[in-house]
Amino acid sequence: MNFKKICVLGLGYIGLPTASTFATHGVKVLGVDVNKSIVETLQRGEIHIHEPGLRDTVSAALASGNFSVSTQPQEADAFLIAVPTPFHENKFGEYNGQKYKLADMRAVTSATEAIVPFLRKDNLVVLESTSPPRTTLELVAPILARSGLQAGRDFHLAYSPERVLPGQILRELIENARVIGGVTPESAQAGADLYSIFVKGQIVQTDATTAEMVKLMENTYRDVNIAIANEFARLADKFGVDVWEAIQIASLHPRVKILSPGPGVGGHCISVDPWFFVETAPELTPLIYNSRKVNDAQPHFVVDLVKRALGDVIKGKRIAALGLAYKPDVDDLRESPANEVVHLLQKEGARVKAFEPFKLEGLPGMDMAKSLDDALNDADAIVLLVRHTEFINLKPIDVAAKTKARVIVDTVNGWNAANWQSAGFAVTRLGAGK
Ligand SMILES: NC(=O)c1ccc[n+]([C@@H]2O[C@H](COP(=O)([O-])OP(=O)(O)OC[C@H]3O[C@@H](n4cnc5c(N)ncnc54)[C@H](O)[C@@H]3O)[C@@H](O)[C@H]2O)c1
Repeated sequence: MNFKKICVLGLGYIGLPTASTFATHGVKVLGVDVNKSIVETLQRGEIHIHEPGLRDTVSAALASGNFSVSTQPQEADAFLIAVPTPFHENKFGEYNGQKYKLADMRAVTSATEAIVPFLRKDNLVVLESTSPPRTTLELVAPILARSGLQAGRDFHLAYSPERVLPGQILRELIENARVIGGVTPESAQAGADLYSIFVKGQIVQTDATTAEMVKLMENTYRDVNIAIANEFARLADKFGVDVWEAIQIASLHPRVKILSPGPGVGGHCISVDPWFFVETAPELTPLIYNSRKVNDAQPHFVVDLVKRALGDVIKGKRIAALGLAYKPDVDDLRESPANEVVHLLQKEGARVKAFEPFKLEGLPGMDMAKSLDDALNDADAIVLLVRHTEFINLKPIDVAAKTKARVIVDTVNGWNAANWQSAGFAVTRLGAGK
């Protein structure tokens, strides 16, 4: 299939890099977003998100004359949907007395509805948003049928998930393997034709529901494996074992690879996507459900550790919390377990000062330090919550000179305990029962 003009709905972390990359590869692209201020920002030649290299790509796309933005779609050869699919904050499902989270598909629904008036015979529509299984067939296709055209017969419809790593999006968009699931083999082929305009990685064609499942399986696999690592950490604590040593030794087994425990699982993918399986098949997903529960409960385990490190007295204690991001060296605080740890410590009466070098303003309701020194200054204890390089490189002697705190709790195995002990600190490490 030949694509002269495409329309990308949703200009966020996924849609904007995708739209501008198509434009720099010679395709006319209309980027559409319902958020007027995003459209105006882009029309001024500025960007609203931080992603290395994105400013240059968007500038090149605009300069080529191939890229324009609007709040409304237009007729095109292909339509790509890259809108958010979070879960509902205050709406839950229930199965056998157990509550589970529900996907909020309103953005996918309205973006699909917006395409209907512009859909023509032989077009291609691709859903990229991470979605519960069968969304393409059971939500998107019926909405598009309101045009009088039928998916797979009159136009092509496919699902193609994104697997890019924030911070590396522009490179991974091009180099990663891409799966394209069509509602028919012809739809998958049309999707492959489209993405082969810039994708250099392998393009794998399959059916739409398989592609949806693949995306959810990837993130669920990681969530379940982190949950078992977190349970191993709790067991090691109970049995007087150092879980990090035990994991290293167990991983010498040629068929065993254990992931790292930590303060929990965050971000908007791994901690969200497994719920899409639970929601659509609660009777089949006790392992996935319980893994989510284990990872969500991990901040409580961390708070118990801090309590123990402080001799069971937490009320009134000043705690320096180092890191709020959901993973090292990013500014993303969404669903971060570090935030949950801070909230729980506050609830126990601790006076927590948090320091997040990638987002100094932190989140509402938190006492944020302006600098590391500010956080350490009058602390009674230091809790390491994220493996930011800046924290991992700290020298115990330097820290000892900046604070009266002599208690540290390392939840990410970021520091060499012996070095900190030599500098006069009492060290508690997550999963180190020895
Ligand atoms: N960001 C990632 O690293 C990543 C990785 C893999 C998959 N995903 C998935 O990709 C999808 C998009 O994620 P994102 O991070 O780009 O989201 P985002 O929040 O950064 O951007 C989405 C954009 O869509 C716009 N939007 C909402 N409803 C719309 C509508 N009806 N029509 C047009 N625009 C609309 C929003 O205003 C926003 O600008 C999600 O399903 C997400 O789970 C994201």
